[in-house]
Amino acid sequence: VTAWRRLEEQLRQQQKLEAIGRLAGGIAHDFNNILTVIGGLCESLERTLPEGAHGRDDVLSIRDAGERAAALTAQLLAFSRRSIVDPAVIDVNAAIERLGGMLRRLIGEDVAVSTDLARDLAAVEADPGQLDQVLVNLVLNARDAMPGGGDVLVRTRNVVLGAPESSSDGPPAGRFVELSVKDTGVGMSDEVQARIFEPFFTTKRIGEGTGLGLATVHGIVAQARGRITVESRPGAGTTFTLLFPATERAPASRPPAEAPAPGGSETILVVEDEEPVRRLVCRALKGGGYTVIEAGSGAAALAAFDALGGGRLDLLVTDVVMPRMGGRELAELISQRCPDLRILFMSGYTDDAVLREGVSQAEVTFLQKPFTPRQLAEKVRAALSKPAR
Ligand SMILES: Nc1ncnc2c1ncn2[C@@H]1O[C@H](COP(=O)(O)OP(=O)(O)OP(=O)(O)O)[C@@H](O)[C@H]1O
Ligand SMILES: [Mg+2]
Repeated sequence: VTAWRRLEEQLRQQQKLEAIGRLAGGIAHDFNNILTVIGGLCESLERTLPEGAHGRDDVLSIRDAGERAAALTAQLLAFSRRSIVDPAVIDVNAAIERLGGMLRRLIGEDVAVSTDLARDLAAVEADPGQLDQVLVNLVLNARDAMPGGGDVLVRTRNVVLGAPESSSDGPPAGRFVELSVKDTGVGMSDEVQARIFEPFFTTKRIGEGTGLGLATVHGIVAQARGRITVESRPGAGTTFTLLFPATERAPASRPPAEAPAPGGSETILVVEDEEPVRRLVCRALKGGGYTVIEAGSGAAALAAFDALGGGRLDLLVTDVVMPRMGGRELAELISQRCPDLRILFMSGYTDDAVLREGVSQAEVTFLQKPFTPRQLAEKVRAALSKPAR
């Protein structure tokens, strides 16, 4: 009977997860379109308003709020495993420094955040947005564990594991980047520790915690072939330690924010059913010097392609999730007739396993919504300079 009960309980959990996943996917799709418009318009306003101009601070606040909303949406998606993992070579120290200001704002004044970052830290391969989520979740948990204030220490270092330290359930031997988040909070009993990675396990009051934070972190770390461990005692604080396999590849250096976004003179077909997003994309690309053809559906895109009559088309930029004809079907139809066409997919989420696999294998160029005009410009350049399939 106990075994039966347990099975029933597992099934119920799974159904709950499945339902939440579907809901999250649906919400995220709409939210990411909305947030792309909010963020994109903020970026262009920011460019037109000089430093100190009336309203500039308001625009920056709107942009920050939009970024927080985007982080939340990403959290829902990561948890429901509907997010698209677009791994990149990253410098974990740089990610921590970039997030620093946001983290300090999130946790308030009673808690001091300090960092101890290894100087010659190796790079890791992971999705940059997901690494941000891991950091935010761990730091927020630390804050919640210190209602009367305290200290959080975020630390990185290189570690090398020899064969004896690596076991079948642990990481293989090799070089790793260790990231740890240590707090001086209330700590955890063994019973709590045993359950923290379970979805929906929370000791917080309703409305204060969903119990998804660490389940999400665990999923992300596993996807990056990493490992997470916890050390905690009631009253003695908590340390989460994460290991990510190190990579020899060098992180791509980001161009300075003041450098103009890259442009070009190629011809681009933009297909997006959400009108405000389409307008924003087309405006940004025209601003970059490209010749832009726009379409609001797969059918309209095919018609626009026919109207070109064999004229030059260099790149198809298409939304993935559209009614009637999705982006991947459209891309297949057009590339049959235009074999050296480059393709850039954009989406907030997808249930399309083929596409997801393609992105994680770096075969498909993909732009995660919400995106800013600059991110769009960079991905477009990257897609155009890729060899045709
Ligand atoms: N740094 C910590 N110190 C003490 N307890 C912790 C810490 N981090 C997590 N926990 C315990 O683990 C539980 C699960 O954490 P998790 O992040 O998954 O969910 P949550 O924080 O309760 O809710 P959510 O993150 O979804 O808002 C927490 O409710 C808390 O009991
Ligand atoms: Mg949490």
